[in-house]
Amino acid sequence: MKLKGKTVLVTGASRGIGRAVAEAAAAEGASLLLHFSQNGEAAEKLCASLPGSGHRSIQADFARSEDVELLAKQILANHSCPDVLVNNAGVFQEHPPLITTFEDWKRCWDETLAVNLSAPAHLSYFFGRAMAERGDGRIVNVSSRGAFRGEPEAPAYGASKAGMNSMGQSLA
Ligand SMILES: NC(=O)c1ccc[n+]([C@@H]2O[C@H](COP(=O)([O-])OP(=O)(O)OC[C@H]3O[C@@H](n4cnc5c(N)ncnc54)[C@H](OP(=O)(O)O)[C@@H]3O)[C@@H](O)[C@H]2O)c1
Repeated sequence: MKLKGKTVLVTGASRGIGRAVAEAAAAEGASLLLHFSQNGEAAEKLCASLPGSGHRSIQADFARSEDVELLAKQILANHSCPDVLVNNAGVFQEHPPLITTFEDWKRCWDETLAVNLSAPAHLSYFFGRAMAERGDGRIVNVSSRGAFRGEPEAPAYGASKAGMNSMGQSLA
């Protein structure tokens, strides 16, 4: 029970890796704040299935920076600062440069950077400051091998994860 009494915020907890992280954290005694974007039903089901108590789900579309700010402010106002922030939510959209229209190319870059890089940066801003004030806290960024080897079919994804790694180094 290494996380007993701790609150863990996992972004993108409705499925995949985020869901697995949430389940593992709950098994270690943590109370979970389960962020989701579209998949509220799955987040609610996960919330109800986790062991322990105090779990809650919370919605935000990270493509919209105002949603990210609202989420952080709501959590700080209602639940206080989580002990651990796991920046996991992410999108992977293919947009090979030689066959993608500029309109789609631009949309992929804007959305990918907003969700994969700017949202983790903004959440780190709000919760990192609260953690520093409290004198304790952890931020975990879920990156990708694409940060190191590039992603020829999804260059914005590789760039977003390389940016996330640099952001983590800077904030640490
Ligand atoms: N799977 C892999 O092989 C792999 C490899 C390397 C790195 N990663 C990284 O690991 C993380 C999780 O990957 P995964 O494969 O588990 O992902 P996934 O199954 O596709 O789940 C993505 C999660 O991100 C959320 N999300 C998507 N768009 C969002 C948006 N606009 N705003 C807020 N949240 C949004 C989704 O929420 P809703 O379902 O509620 O919409 C979902 O919970 C990502 O950062 C990914 O880059 C994955």
